[in-house]
Amino acid sequence: MGLRDDFPFFKHHPDLAYFDNAATTLKPQPVIDAVTDYYERLSSNIHRGDYETSRETEMKYDATRDKIAKFIGTEAKNIVFTSGASESLNLVAHGYGRHFLKKDDVVLLSAAEHASNTLPWFNLVEELGIKVEFIPLDATGHITMEALKESLHEHVKLVSLAHISNILAYVNDIQEMAKLVHANDALFCVDGAQAIGHIPVNVVESDVDFYAFSAHKMLGPSGVGVLFAKEEILEMMKPLNTGGGNNVRYNACGSVTLKKAPAKFESGTPNIEGVIGFGAAIDYLNDYGMENIHTYLQPLHKRAVEGLMAMSHVTVYNPEADNAIIAFSVEGIFAQDVAAYLDRHNIAVRSGEHCAKMLNGVLHAEKSVRLSLYIYNTMEEVEHFLNVMSDISLEKTIDLYI
Ligand SMILES: Cc1ncc(COP(=O)(O)O)c(C=O)c1O
Repeated sequence: MGLRDDFPFFKHHPDLAYFDNAATTLKPQPVIDAVTDYYERLSSNIHRGDYETSRETEMKYDATRDKIAKFIGTEAKNIVFTSGASESLNLVAHGYGRHFLKKDDVVLLSAAEHASNTLPWFNLVEELGIKVEFIPLDATGHITMEALKESLHEHVKLVSLAHISNILAYVNDIQEMAKLVHANDALFCVDGAQAIGHIPVNVVESDVDFYAFSAHKMLGPSGVGVLFAKEEILEMMKPLNTGGGNNVRYNACGSVTLKKAPAKFESGTPNIEGVIGFGAAIDYLNDYGMENIHTYLQPLHKRAVEGLMAMSHVTVYNPEADNAIIAFSVEGIFAQDVAAYLDRHNIAVRSGEHCAKMLNGVLHAEKSVRLSLYIYNTMEEVEHFLNVMSDISLEKTIDLYI
């Protein structure tokens, strides 16, 4: 049995080269089993039932928080469950920023950020009069330490950057960045959505203040994610929602005592099956070994980049990407048409602006095609892709519509 046998998706699509892993990863059988087991055998709520199935559900739910904490080198009390990286970043902006930033304070981002790490900060520009500034990217799209240093000044109170950007896929040295940001008396928020399933992460060693990610980009279910934050910051922050489960007491005068973090942020019945499935995804990745992911993907990535670079009709925008994501375009053919043509040949890729709409200045193209690899992809799939790409032409893509 090979690793691909763990992914039932391939039983249904045996010939499909699934290259859209930066959008979401496939789910291995143990994750599907964990979710199904919850629905079939447990189906109970947590933290409020005095019976066996509720207790077992609660145990599995709480165990996942411990597993995630260990996975990123911290403690369970620092792990807040959310619906995904987007909600986690919104929680930073609205649970921290809205209460502790003020007019003319600056939040520093980069033009390579995902919309989910940009728009929540724009909300605060409108609501509070804060300013959003952008670290200039170099010609290849990197954020250099010099550029970060030069962009920091006394009004910068928070810096929020992707650990790995979702298009250019360079790994930011978050540990070195954290030092610079803290020396400026600012907080450092890291969007880990693209990094968490690819490289080992240690939030304590990196000394970041916030780290946000989603389960579905690391083999887990959709609709569940995490915000890590330092304890003292979580204690200051306000929850986005309040209600059942997040308070100790309240009275008719409106006096409310909230629980300590993380319970303070998790009111209402959570995504129990998602969290339990998330735990199974962490087990799967731990068994695989996070340090093995890059080693496995590197030759596939290298072959795909070199193969594409050898084609005169193709432009690769990030040939030096650290992570296995390739952004490219084909001369004279719309990105969507390239994706539709690849789809005809059983290859799934993403085309468009990839939720980073301010990156056009670096890509010098409004839209691109994005190919992103993960642990179940094979060299045969990469060769098939390169064969199809070597043969692509405007006439052939137009044929699709005739
Ligand atoms: C860099 C980055 N940040 C944030 C997100 C948002 O993640 P989600 O859609 O799971 O909330 C994504 C998703 O593509 C991403 O790539």
